[in-house]
Amino acid sequence: MAKSSEKLVLRRRPRRLRATEGVRRLIEECSLSANDLVAPVFCKESGPREGIESMPGVFRHNPDDAARFALDLHDAGIPAIALFPCLPEGKKDAKGSAGLDPTGLVPHVVREIKERAPGLLVIADVALDPYTNHGHDGVWNPESGEIENDPTVFLLCEMARVLGEAGVDFVAPSDMMDGRVGAIRASLDAAELERVGVLAYAVKFASAFYGPFRDAIGSRRGKGYLDKRTYQLNPANLREGLREAQLDEEEGADILMVKPAGPYLDVIAKVRDQTLLPVAAYQVSGEYAQIVAAAKNGWIDWEAAYRESLLAIKRAGADLIFTYFAPSFVGVA
Ligand code: PBG
Repeated sequence: MAKSSEKLVLRRRPRRLRATEGVRRLIEECSLSANDLVAPVFCKESGPREGIESMPGVFRHNPDDAARFALDLHDAGIPAIALFPCLPEGKKDAKGSAGLDPTGLVPHVVREIKERAPGLLVIADVALDPYTNHGHDGVWNPESGEIENDPTVFLLCEMARVLGEAGVDFVAPSDMMDGRVGAIRASLDAAELERVGVLAYAVKFASAFYGPFRDAIGSRRGKGYLDKRTYQLNPANLREGLREAQLDEEEGADILMVKPAGPYLDVIAKVRDQTLLPVAAYQVSGEYAQIVAAAKNGWIDWEAAYRESLLAIKRAGADLIFTYFAPSFVGVA
């Protein structure tokens, strides 16, 4: 061991590249910008904005407030938002019929936003869970207990068309039914909605990290975890996820998404290697809640932690990130 006064003979000193702000900036391999971020926006029919207890800092907005919030985000540099509705229980049924209503909440909010912020890209989820009284993403057969694939796909096609006609730029099927990307693409094209893109939740895991989101849209049933394992992926499976990404690409997806993001960086990296399409990642509600909760306790630095979490998702290979931190990133409250 060298004494502290002595010099080692070192031919490699990697710390030279970290010694000053200038060199650190020059050799930075990736960076975050508002251009990379999609802000999820929760909407509801009426009333003042409501906080979501398990997602401090995130709110449900009435259509007018949602449009105002979207405009603020756009003015601050966020290129896109993703809309999620929270419906009163009385409007939900077993088949999610309210999701097909062209005068429903999401089409209404889309029109409001497009009027005020025409340049803002609007993405809307295609899945039945905000509209079903059981909280599943598909049609539930009470006799078999199954989520029925093909009847669900027909409804999703209809929903995608309704959303396209309302003016969304991308529909985002988040349901994980087989064959839905191809069917939705065909249904949009048949309705002369070629301009509407499909951002597929291609690799979506059955994750415990969706809990707070289910509070936000009111799809949580009981205290526990709603079991979606017959359609969402097993968190243990990488190859199965890559296969899903491949299928969605073949079926005509424009963008492939991996979800959640932080616990699945290996999946993001592999999807990035496998495709030439843009890759999106969704930093989900539970990932947000973890950082916010630890920061509220004073256990981590909020700003540094969330920026690091997003940078890591970028480094893994995501071109765009859905994140509840998007408003904070651009200073919109
Ligand atoms: C449902 C949907 C979910 C999310 C986005 N769309 C949850 C689920 O599958 O239950 C989760 C987003 C989040 O947790 O932030 N189709």
